[in-house]
Amino acid sequence: MESNKNQSLSTLMLGSERRRISAMVAFDPGSPSIARVYDYLLGGKDNFAVDRELAAKLMKIYPPVRQTLRESRAFLRRAINWTAGQGIGQFIDLGAGLPTSPNIHETARQTNPWATVAYVDNDPIVISHLSALVAAGDERVAVVPGDLHDTEAVLSAAKLTGLIDTSRPVCMVLALVLHFCDGPTAAALVHRYATAVAPGSYVIVTFGRADGTLADRFAGTYNRRGFATMYNHSPDDFAEFLDGLEIVPPGIAEACQIMPGHQALLIPPPAKDGQVLAAIARVPE
Ligand SMILES: C[S@@+](CC[C@H](N)C(=O)[O-])C[C@H]1O[C@@H](n2cnc3c(N)ncnc32)[C@H](O)[C@@H]1O
Repeated sequence: MESNKNQSLSTLMLGSERRRISAMVAFDPGSPSIARVYDYLLGGKDNFAVDRELAAKLMKIYPPVRQTLRESRAFLRRAINWTAGQGIGQFIDLGAGLPTSPNIHETARQTNPWATVAYVDNDPIVISHLSALVAAGDERVAVVPGDLHDTEAVLSAAKLTGLIDTSRPVCMVLALVLHFCDGPTAAALVHRYATAVAPGSYVIVTFGRADGTLADRFAGTYNRRGFATMYNHSPDDFAEFLDGLEIVPPGIAEACQIMPGHQALLIPPPAKDGQVLAAIARVPE
């Protein structure tokens, strides 16, 4: 797994600017996709044999992978509920993934029935499945096809939906996508999104990582297929991604340990060498 050392936010250059990638990934049923492999690991049905084969290899290398991903989704539900409880009524889900139950809009509406959500993804299959939500008549959900590296285009498109007003606080979700970015790019993305929206906005961030040789074995299996590159970020890298933002208690921890807004961790660190690290941060006034 590739590792990195981040630089300070003030000197960041977005890595993707040096190797600009096209807005959407091409649909190729003969190659795995990030979204479909993840869907299979979560127990979904929107995946192909090639995705299941890769997922099976990942599960062999790291048997707790499915449990770890379910814990990540459970954290996301707690984080969305908590931010909605802080008065946030608009959400931008960056790298949304295939629909899974409950989706971000369903979770947010448990606390704020009027919550609006813009789902962003660069996978055409994801866009097509998410679009069914809009086709089914949910007027407070929008789907934005695009590459999250292109922050300006993504935010402009989200605003054009009429559901997102970045002059008011918004919650941006970067869940399980930053391990597909090198460290400087991940830090720059968080910084760019956070500085483009109103003070009082929130960013929810999670990413997968591993200790020791597991990192190389897991990412090596994934990266060999050539459809994505996985990076291993440390907790210190994470703190740098959130530099300049107010980190919500309990801070950076494993997803399964966090009850947003509470200092005490829910459980001691689980004894496994693969984790999803998570945090919520607030854009200062
Ligand atoms: C592992 S899934 C995570 C889904 C969801 N955020 C969650 O945590 O449950 C990552 C998603 O990010 C999308 N993605 C990856 N790179 C992206 C990019 N550069 N721009 C937009 N979406 C991206 C993938 O297509 C996939 O749907």
